[in-house]
Amino acid sequence: MSEAILQLQNVESAYGPIKAIRGVSLKVRPGEIATVLGSNGAGKTTILKTISGIIDPRKGSVEFKGRSITAKDPSFIVQQGLSHVPEGREVFPLLSVRDNLLMGAYTRSNRDEVGRDMETVFAYFPILRERAGQEAGLLSGGQQQMLAISRAIMAAPQLILLDEPSLGLSPKLTKEIFEIVVRINRERGTTILLVEQNANMALNASDYGYVLENGRIVLEDSCDRLREKEDIKEFYLGMKDEGVRGERRWKKKKTWR
Ligand SMILES: Nc1ncnc2c1ncn2[C@@H]1O[C@H](COP(=O)(O)OP(=O)(O)OP(=O)(O)O)[C@@H](O)[C@H]1O
Ligand SMILES: [Mg+2]
Repeated sequence: MSEAILQLQNVESAYGPIKAIRGVSLKVRPGEIATVLGSNGAGKTTILKTISGIIDPRKGSVEFKGRSITAKDPSFIVQQGLSHVPEGREVFPLLSVRDNLLMGAYTRSNRDEVGRDMETVFAYFPILRERAGQEAGLLSGGQQQMLAISRAIMAAPQLILLDEPSLGLSPKLTKEIFEIVVRINRERGTTILLVEQNANMALNASDYGYVLENGRIVLEDSCDRLREKEDIKEFYLGMKDEGVRGERRWKKKKTWR
């Protein structure tokens, strides 16, 4: 097993008196898609905010590429090669789509490479090329999600943190977005840590998964194995009466792609 690119050890983060995560330890290996599954309020967003430096942990450590980034500035962490696509996308609504993308690349000086990556994201999401000159606030929710992911790519990160990309999207659009996330991982070699309530999509796209409940990791395993666990099926996949339908839905990601 290769060294972890990202490692959290016993991380505890709180909002005033509210402990949101309580001793979370997890590893993300280079080149994989890892996922944290959990329901509303489990602490998924808090984990990502703690990694990217938006909130400082009360306890524990976060290491990226073997070095501590615990409680460092978000801008420093981005410069180390770690990009965060926040919950609810947070694009700059009054800036054009193109300027939003360029904001993602603000730390980069090689204009040729930035231009090439702009072409890459336009190839992933052709609608963004069509709307390049338009204000980002005029995009639909799904298109804003595409823009938010693309803006993260524009920083040329080694690791992308993705907070609930399926939020508020139709099943069809969710599937399209997840297919692109898998392509970004396979084609660019970008490591991805994805947090989701949509266990169905997340387990299909990911290699390794953690289950978070009330701020604690209660289960971890390869996604192949997590998909087969009865309690996961019941609580996260709505598949209590699993049958032929369930079997057909649960094809391995190789065939799914
Ligand atoms: N800004 C805040 N102030 C106070 N409490 C907060 C704040 N943000 C989150 N919390 C609390 O921390 C806990 C974890 O919240 P978090 O947003 O990390 O959950 P989540 O798993 O991302 O949920 P969701 O799926 O609804 O996005 C919850 O109990 C929540 O109420
Ligand atoms: Mg959240």
